[in-house]
Formats: sequence, structure tokens, C-alpha cells
Amino acid sequence: MAQVVSDPKTNPLRVGLRAGGATVPAVFVIFGATGDLAHRKLLPAIYNLGARGLLPNRFAVVGYARSEMTDDEYREQARASLERFSRTQIDESYWTAFADSLHYVSGAFDDQEAFRALGERLARIDAGHGTEGNRVYYLSTPASFFPVIVDNMGQTGLNDPAGFARVVIEKPFGHDLETARELAETVHRSFQERQIYRIDHYLGKETVQNIFVFRFANAIFEPVWTNRYVDHVQITVAESLGVEHRAAFYEETGVVRDIVQNHLLQVLALVAMEPPAAFEADAVRDEKTKVLRATRPLSFENTVRGQYGSGFVAGEEVPAYAQEEGVPADSNTPTFIAARMEIDNWRWAGTPFYIRTGKRMPKRVTEVAVQFKRVPHLPFTMGAAEHLEANSLVLRIQPDEGISLRFGAKAPSPTVAISTVNMDFLYGSAFLHDVPEAYETLILDAIRGDRTLFTPQDGVERSWEICDPLLEQWRSGTPQVYASGSWGPEAAFELITRDGRRWRRP
Ligand code: BG6
Repeated sequence: MAQVVSDPKTNPLRVGLRAGGATVPAVFVIFGATGDLAHRKLLPAIYNLGARGLLPNRFAVVGYARSEMTDDEYREQARASLERFSRTQIDESYWTAFADSLHYVSGAFDDQEAFRALGERLARIDAGHGTEGNRVYYLSTPASFFPVIVDNMGQTGLNDPAGFARVVIEKPFGHDLETARELAETVHRSFQERQIYRIDHYLGKETVQNIFVFRFANAIFEPVWTNRYVDHVQITVAESLGVEHRAAFYEETGVVRDIVQNHLLQVLALVAMEPPAAFEADAVRDEKTKVLRATRPLSFENTVRGQYGSGFVAGEEVPAYAQEEGVPADSNTPTFIAARMEIDNWRWAGTPFYIRTGKRMPKRVTEVAVQFKRVPHLPFTMGAAEHLEANSLVLRIQPDEGISLRFGAKAPSPTVAISTVNMDFLYGSAFLHDVPEAYETLILDAIRGDRTLFTPQDGVERSWEICDPLLEQWRSGTPQVYASGSWGPEAAFELITRDGRRWRRP
């Protein structure tokens, strides 16, 4: 049967898709311009914003890194990255204009002379591109360079241009509560809080933003979004990849700092927060921080840590974490955690949030499953409802972005037999529209000066308060080894079955 596809131009679901681009001129400066993140994510995101007409008319990019390079060489590198990593093909008619807006300045991060030279170059670019002294600085470097870069920006006046200055800081923001506070102090010497954009790319994902819309744009879900009706919530962030070439980074980071302290707690906050008065920076950020304050810190008794051993993922044999290049053979860095979390407030008391995240899981999947309580009384014979599960609502963040509601239905038969069925919403078929990359949304917001999707300092600090006690307890002992391609160590299953529940199979 021919598939019926509605015309995207007339598809009513497309009405309201984000239209407003940035209009105020600006220069976007990338510190760490030759790094992985800049090439894989930042340049493709900026390019795609430009190609969709969402960048200001007067706009330029300046890459800054240690390697010596001319503007033309930088443009060639950028072109190669776009060919590899852009989600759309390069549009030749736009490429020339885009390439003209790319510039490169070479220098070290601790070299004030080079920062001054950058400042002079920026002034010339302002004159050439009409960018009016407005700057968005993006720190795309290893975290150890953040303090020295912001310090030098302060010393050389880069923090105080003729127009506005904003600084976008990648995760991790600190290594624990204490270092997060120290970093904040350093950054606050050169920038005010309203100029600081702490980025967590999960918040730029369409499906993560949709948690907010789903909850607060619909009348029917919010009334049941409480401990009265919800038995528990499961949040899974599973990756099939291993540590890849990031051993040095990961050895210092581990799964809690890499995923839980930021991405996972941000998702939890969106699922559990109270409705804010408006979808704007202070209101949303305050509500998220409030629910994180009510979230109990992670504890040893309610967590399981794992490290991947060798095994098979998608039919391919893969090595154990401890055998990966750059990882010491006796490493006890955890690559997996499962935890039972509690939120001590009226809405959630008694309804646990189970989280799990790990590398080398059977597949890449991020989802939130809201598991509802069973009905108080079933007016059917036992046999009829044998296959009936409690209702659940699954928000699939990635891949197969969508939402599924599971409920009981009468199976077609002359007797009463109840089956559990799915009602599905899929982004791909509903909107017929490519989902933009998270970085596109967040970079555009930084250029437009919208901080709603960026993390405030108090939220960052609270997230460290939730993680720090466990990180301290995990200093001793070792993680349990799980086979690559499995859903984690056996103990992760026990963690939930001891409460009479089980993990959903995503
Ligand atoms: C990053 C982590 O923040 O997020 C990586 O450092 C992880 O370890 C990545 O792989 C996952 O992001 P995404 O968008 O692919 O889910």
C-alpha cells in the first residue's frame, strides 16, 4: 500500500516550529577551535543555523587555538568538518558567504600577548563585518583551561568590548562542589552571572525540551503526574559506544561526573519540577533548582557501580574498559551506575526515581518511563487480565524520538482477554522535519541572549551536592564488571527487584 505522507508545508503540526533567528550582530569566538567538539559539533551547528537563515546578517566566527594556521587553512579545515559532520549537505551557494565569515587567530590560552592580538583582530573584524563589538565567547577546551582563559580575558579587556560579551562554558563545570565554587569565583571576576552560559547539550535536544511542553501545554497529564498515580519513574541513558579515544578525560571523570551530575539530573529536574509561571530563564531555572534541592543525595546503599568488561555489542567483539588504550589495567573508574533516587516533596514523596546510565550497553537509548500505579480494583476474572501491565508513559529522548502510552485493551476475542497496547507519537512522521542538533538550538540561544536552557550556578552547585557524597564513598572499593552488550551488573537488577519492580527493556 502506498504510504500517505502529508505535505510538510500544509501539515498543521509544523505550525509553531521555532522561526525566530538572531538579528543583533555578533562575533562568535571559539577557544579550542581545532578540538574535537569544535569540529564535530560547533562548526556544523553554526553552519546549519546560517544555512537556515537564523544567524544575524552581520556575523563572523573567529577560531582561536595554539596551532599556527591562516584563515584559508582554517576555512579548509572547517569545510572538511562540515563534509563529515554536518547533518545537511553543504549548500555551495551559501558556503562562500559562510567561509568569508570564518577567521583564525593562533595563540596559547595562557598568553596575554596573544589575547591582546585577538582583541585587535576582533576590532578589525568589527570594522569589516559591522559586528558592533558584540562577542559570544565559547570555551571549547579541556576544563583545566577554563580558569586561565577567563582570567586572561579579564586581564586583556576581552570581557569588556564595545558591545555585549557573553561566555559559554562547556561541562564539566568543576570537578566537585568545591572546585565548581572556585571556578564560579574566577569567572565572576571577569563576567557577571547574566553573561555566563553554562551549557548542557542535553537541554538543547528537542525531545528534552518537549518534556516541558508535554507536561505544561497539556491539561490531561499534569493532574496524574504525582505520587498519587505514579508508582515510580525510570530514566535510562544508555550508550553502545565505549570510551573511544577519551581515556584520559574519562579516567578523571567517570560516569557520575560525565552523565549524572549534568545530563541526567537535568532530565530528572524537567520531569519532576513544578510548573513555572513562564517559559523564561529565571522562572524555569528556579523551579529546576528547587526540585534538585528536594532530591536526596546519591548514597552508597542505593547505587550500583559497574565497569564494562569485554563482550559483544551489535555483533562486534569489543574490549574491556581496562584494556582500552590509555586506561590503566587496574582502573576502578565506573562506566555504569544504577541508582534509586528520592525526591522529598509533596508531589514525589514515596515515588522513587530509578536511574541508570552506562557505556557499552546493548544499544544507544535515552528514555524516561513514567510507570503508573495499577487500578485499585480489576473487575475482570484473573485469567482475562493476566497480560495486563500497569499503564506507562515513555518519553523517548533518542533515537526514535517520540512518546508512547501503554494501556490495556480488549483483545479481539469472544471472551474478555485484555492485552497491553501502545499509542505512539513519533516526531519523524508527525512533523516531517529534520530534528535540529542540540548545539544549534543552544548556540542560537547564546547569540540571542536567551539563558532559559543554560544552567545557573545554584543548579550546578546543587547537582554537585547530590553527587559528591557518593563520589567520596566510591573512592574505595571497585566497580562490578559487566559484559559489554549487557544492561549492567546483576546487582543493578537486584537494586530494583528488591522493591518489587523491574527495569523496562527499552
Ligand atoms: C557527553 C559525554 O556529554 O555526552 C559523553 O561526555 C557522551 O561521554 C555524550 O557520550 C552523549 O551525548 P549524546 O548527545 O550522544 O547522547
